[in-house]
Amino acid sequence: MKQGVIIMKILIINGSPRIKGATGQILRKIKDSLIEINPSLEIEYIDLAMMNLQLCNGCLSCYKTGNCIIKDDGLENLSKKIENCDGVIFGSPTYVTNVSGHFKIMIDRCHFVFERLLFNKACFSVVTYENYGGKKAQKVINELIRNSGGAVVCQFLIKLNHGDIAINDKNSIQISKLSRKFLRKLEKNNPLSVYERIFRNISFNFGIKNHVLKNKIRYKGILDRWMKKGYYLEK
Ligand SMILES: Cc1cc2nc3c(=O)[nH]c(=O)nc-3n(C[C@H](O)[C@H](O)[C@H](O)COP(=O)(O)O)c2cc1C
Repeated sequence: MKQGVIIMKILIINGSPRIKGATGQILRKIKDSLIEINPSLEIEYIDLAMMNLQLCNGCLSCYKTGNCIIKDDGLENLSKKIENCDGVIFGSPTYVTNVSGHFKIMIDRCHFVFERLLFNKACFSVVTYENYGGKKAQKVINELIRNSGGAVVCQFLIKLNHGDIAINDKNSIQISKLSRKFLRKLEKNNPLSVYERIFRNISFNFGIKNHVLKNKIRYKGILDRWMKKGYYLEK
């Protein structure tokens, strides 16, 4: 159990441009289910489609300074919210066997991986799809989570016809089960599985760290963050 933590903060991020579509319906149901189980949770629900998202321009300023130069579309603020919460629920529809464009912009702009943005956070990936490629889209989200130091504690892949109502008895039962599981994992100090811990250790110490240390000037913002957060000696 996380000692002394009274209110757990959860962020739910919907990557669908159709805010009332299938992905949003599932995510809102998960939110309701979590609140029903634990009314003291602090849950913020974000529709990326309601933000005026701007594309990453590849300037690499975030590596050097720790911050994105684009400040006015709210993604820098979202990155801070992700950093300051205990768990994140990511949802995306499948677009051409991948995540949606909105979701991809968030991945590129919120500087997740080198910054270890999801370090020790319990995460839940939700993907809707119609016929093919949902698994691949979910893999993109799960890899984002693990590559950013987090744990994939729950996954939900939902097959539906475009425009169908997503909430039926079967999905409601599944959401209720997964919500309970998510909360159990959220309360752990380290929600990573043994496999995830081994993967994180190897990918950080032999991949990411070596790469960053080869160019300390370019990655000054990243190194400063690792020092501040204690990630430099990440295990
Ligand atoms: C541009 C576009 C591309 C899509 N590509 C796929 C696809 O590759 N595979 C698939 O199974 N469904 C695909 N779909 C269907 C959606 O993933 C599916 O209907 C999803 O549930 C929509 O979620 P939403 O209602 O939250 O927007 C696509 C839909 C759109 C609009």
